[in-house]
Amino acid sequence: MKALLLCGGEGTRLRPFTYTQPKALLPLGHQPILFHILDTLAGAGLREAAIIIGPNGEPIVTLLRQTNRWDFRFTFIPQPQPLGLAHTVLIAREVLGDEPFLMYLGDNLLEEPLRPLLDRFTQEKPDALLLLRPVKNPRHFGVARIDGSRVIRVEEKPAQPTSNLALAGIYLFSPAIHQAVRAIKPSRRGELEITDAIQWLIESRKTVTYHLITGWWKDTGTVDDLLTANQYVLKKMASAVHGEVKKTQVNGVLAVKKGALLKNCLVKGPVSIGAGCRISGSVLGPYLSVGDGVEITNCCLSRSLVFPNAQLKGVTLTDSILGERVRVSGAGRKEKAYSLLIGADGILNL
Ligand code: G1P
Repeated sequence: MKALLLCGGEGTRLRPFTYTQPKALLPLGHQPILFHILDTLAGAGLREAAIIIGPNGEPIVTLLRQTNRWDFRFTFIPQPQPLGLAHTVLIAREVLGDEPFLMYLGDNLLEEPLRPLLDRFTQEKPDALLLLRPVKNPRHFGVARIDGSRVIRVEEKPAQPTSNLALAGIYLFSPAIHQAVRAIKPSRRGELEITDAIQWLIESRKTVTYHLITGWWKDTGTVDDLLTANQYVLKKMASAVHGEVKKTQVNGVLAVKKGALLKNCLVKGPVSIGAGCRISGSVLGPYLSVGDGVEITNCCLSRSLVFPNAQLKGVTLTDSILGERVRVSGAGRKEKAYSLLIGADGILNL
């Protein structure tokens, strides 16, 4: 089965980080979001993916041409304007052919394996199989109403949701969806909504079934989502120390890439450290991911993401995201932690 992987979004809620790179390439744990997704797809036995990219999507093409450890056959399809999720099905029509496919939004992370769902879809042959998950804030999602084993109504971000079941951004479709995306009109926000296409299937008496997600699922739309997703990813990580760790007490899981040096630190895992980092005199974690080439001196950092080549000195931070090459310095470790969001190349003296 082919995957249609949507990485064209602008990621407006994740600015300033999405000014300098597409959302799918933001790091979580030791690798970009996109790599976690490709791990999931490859784990389900998929080997072909049509990737929708937006105007800032060139780095995705470059990276996947350099790194394709999954042996995927990629086709890149540009979507110059954000005309909606159903619009991506329209523009991928030829690549998808007349086969069923998996549509996967490039900011969704799923804990459970996809293979059993693909098998169920192949056996039962519905026209759509949707992944659903009860949420506290259904107004922020597509919402589904169910009756027995069927989905009987879907609505995009309704003001008055009639159920608490959110549509995860992971859908299995039969080729009937191609007729649906041609039949619908743009919504009030000017987009062809995939929820409208699914509703069209329901009204055309096609079979729309669902699966209730069991493990964790995260749509990494906002800064807090990203930090929470990082936490999930780190919880699943195994210890693997390929760098040097000296005079450092390590509690919990620690992963250190090649060429990194940790000295005189206290590690409260899970913590992931990138290649070539220089870190000393610091308390690290829990839930800390540090990119390649970062320097950290005399800091205390927890539940944060530090992008490559940042330099941090004498600061106490939590719930923070620090972009590439950011430089932050302070007077030393403090009781009170700051929470900072700083885009690429930002400089701050606390
Ligand atoms: C999109 C879909 C929505 C779905 C969500 C899941 O919303 O439109 O139906 O529930 O993804 O991630 P977005 O996150 O793009 O606002």
